[in-house]
Amino acid sequence: MKAVCTVVVLAYIALWSFVFGDPAWAQGEKDRFVPGELWLDTDGRPIQAHGGAVLTRDGTYYWYGEDRTPGRQTGVSCYSSTDLYRWKHEGVAFPQESLSSDIRDRTFIERPKVVFNPKTGKYVMWMHLEQWGYHFARAGVAQSDRPEGPFVFVHHMRPIQYDFGYKDDDPDRQKEFGGTYRDMNLFVDGGKAYAFYASEHNATMYIVRLNDEFTSPASPIVQGQTWARILIGKYREAPAPFKFQNRYYLITSGCTGWQPNPADYAVADHILGPWESKDNPCVGPEAETTFQTQSTCVFPVAGRPGCYIFMADRWMPRRLHDSRYVWLPLVIQPDGTFTLMWLDQWDLSYFERR
Ligand code: DGJ
Repeated sequence: MKAVCTVVVLAYIALWSFVFGDPAWAQGEKDRFVPGELWLDTDGRPIQAHGGAVLTRDGTYYWYGEDRTPGRQTGVSCYSSTDLYRWKHEGVAFPQESLSSDIRDRTFIERPKVVFNPKTGKYVMWMHLEQWGYHFARAGVAQSDRPEGPFVFVHHMRPIQYDFGYKDDDPDRQKEFGGTYRDMNLFVDGGKAYAFYASEHNATMYIVRLNDEFTSPASPIVQGQTWARILIGKYREAPAPFKFQNRYYLITSGCTGWQPNPADYAVADHILGPWESKDNPCVGPEAETTFQTQSTCVFPVAGRPGCYIFMADRWMPRRLHDSRYVWLPLVIQPDGTFTLMWLDQWDLSYFERR
């Protein structure tokens, strides 16, 4: 009997390892990051939080992202953690069915992000809403009293109507509805929140300050004062902004669909710019594909000034649910520069040595 059990257990581990990768990591040695490996939640299920970001609140981390579980429409999942290694599934914080009825049937969600608004006490989620063909390109906004949700849909829109000469036959209908809203992020700075998003059919990045509730653009909308066009005509997406010592940083990818490409980072002394594009921060093998990933977020490591975690997605276009997460340490150097280096595995003690 014992022998049979042993064989069954070994066969299970072998099968798991064959299907999902490193069994040690998968089975719970969760005291380190293993970029690109399958990452299980505390229930042993693969984490579904693609194109996501981490929000820190009162010593707890919340990871929001696309839940691409096969068989259902993409919703926004929420995971919580106190150590960044072990993540508890808090459920689907915003299911796709919670979109408003005018768009629910045809619309899917990408790259959701959540910030906390101290004025209203609400957690506010922005997302890229899309439809078949990728011409819908709108922002969706939802909010909740609790980080785990449920989030309640507020509205959808294109935040900025700015006609720089859109064509009448533009498939994105930007003349009518405003500049497209695709890959996006949120950033809070000095009590004000900003949406960063790829607009103008992805040609130009927009930074838009939000209103006091963080639910719409700040009004009146004035170019150069409440919003800005940056990286004009450069076709950058997947924005991941962060700040260190009054300097703003923005990692982006190129626009090649689900295929990886070289990252770039830009810097600015003011959030609305001017932004100066620097270079690909990745070094070493596969730097030219951002280690086969696309950026999604950079978040600060609590209590370690200048230390951040770079979060990226290794997309599996045919099996999006099986796309992997690549988290790497990012440390700003005294001269204000940084590099991203591949590590097969690492843990938070990395930052103690910097
Ligand atoms: C690249 C974007 O970054 C993803 O979020 C997704 O929209 C794909 N393009 C779709 O091709």
